[in-house]
Amino acid sequence: MNEVGRAVISGLTSSIPAAWEVPENLRKAMEYSLMAGGKRLRPLLVVAAAEALGGSREAALPVACAVEMVHTYSLIHDDLPALDNDDFRRGKPTSHKVFGEAMAILSGDGLLTHAFYSVVQAGSAHGVPAENVLAIVEELSRFAGPAGMVGGQVADMEGEQGLTALEQLRFIHEHKTGDLIVFCLKAGGRIASATEAQLEALERFGRALGHAFQIQDDILDLVGDEGKLGKKTQSDIKQEKVTYPYFLGIDGSRAEADRLTAEAKKAIQAGCIPYPQRLLEIADFLLHRDH
Ligand code: IPE
Ligand code: IPE
Ligand code: MG
Ligand code: MG
Ligand code: MG
Repeated sequence: MNEVGRAVISGLTSSIPAAWEVPENLRKAMEYSLMAGGKRLRPLLVVAAAEALGGSREAALPVACAVEMVHTYSLIHDDLPALDNDDFRRGKPTSHKVFGEAMAILSGDGLLTHAFYSVVQAGSAHGVPAENVLAIVEELSRFAGPAGMVGGQVADMEGEQGLTALEQLRFIHEHKTGDLIVFCLKAGGRIASATEAQLEALERFGRALGHAFQIQDDILDLVGDEGKLGKKTQSDIKQEKVTYPYFLGIDGSRAEADRLTAEAKKAIQAGCIPYPQRLLEIADFLLHRDH
């Protein structure tokens, strides 16, 4: 775990003010999933995008924590019996297995709502201009909402068994996973007061990276190691999901992830991002991930 990862964990630990009166089991359930581990990829991307433009890490952290809250809520709900019906996540029993379905649903609701509180802290505690914070809030609701991640989850659910074209699968991946990753890059950029050209480069990077990331998630569901992944493999088969390997095979899917990673890197090497190194390293790291 690197320095940014540790700062994110510390930010998440103290994200709900101790003085707030929150039902004890709700606080426990929210913390259980938030603190269970995970790669913290999305927070790392927010910070790396801000720093790629010379922005402040401290100012990026509240938004980094916010996106991890949204992501964690999406995992809690994704694992519910009504969706993917999975029992393990981040190396532990899933939230509904420990706290029951009702509390799992409500702890997801709590995390999603609290994320917006956290974003606003970037302005009130770290001086990010109000118009930038507003743009971040607007994009978080857009990319995580009905036209973004939630819409992608619905398409994923409705597409089970019935998908016939790779184009439909692209739509699912773009929204259920890609949109939140694009959000991370643009939000990091906005913390550093990015220009339109820089935001566009970050968006193109995030779009290609997000797609490659979900293709790898599909590959790992088939050939990954449960111990390393911290979740059960073969979940997509059990749920009869149509995935990249279903259409292209494992080798074809790997080649597509390679191609998309190269495309992502190219987008931020064109000159307008002053310090792209960390983002490029993350892209390379993800291509070879085993968890
Ligand atoms: C899993 O995300 C769900 C997807 C959108 C593919 P991650 O693989 O980033 O999960 P954690 O955060 O490391 O647990
Ligand atoms: C989950 O996709 C995407 C979201 C949670 C938004 P998957 O269902 O493929 O993720 P895993 O494999 O359970 O982590
Ligand atoms: Mg799912
Ligand atoms: Mg799932
Ligand atoms: Mg998966």
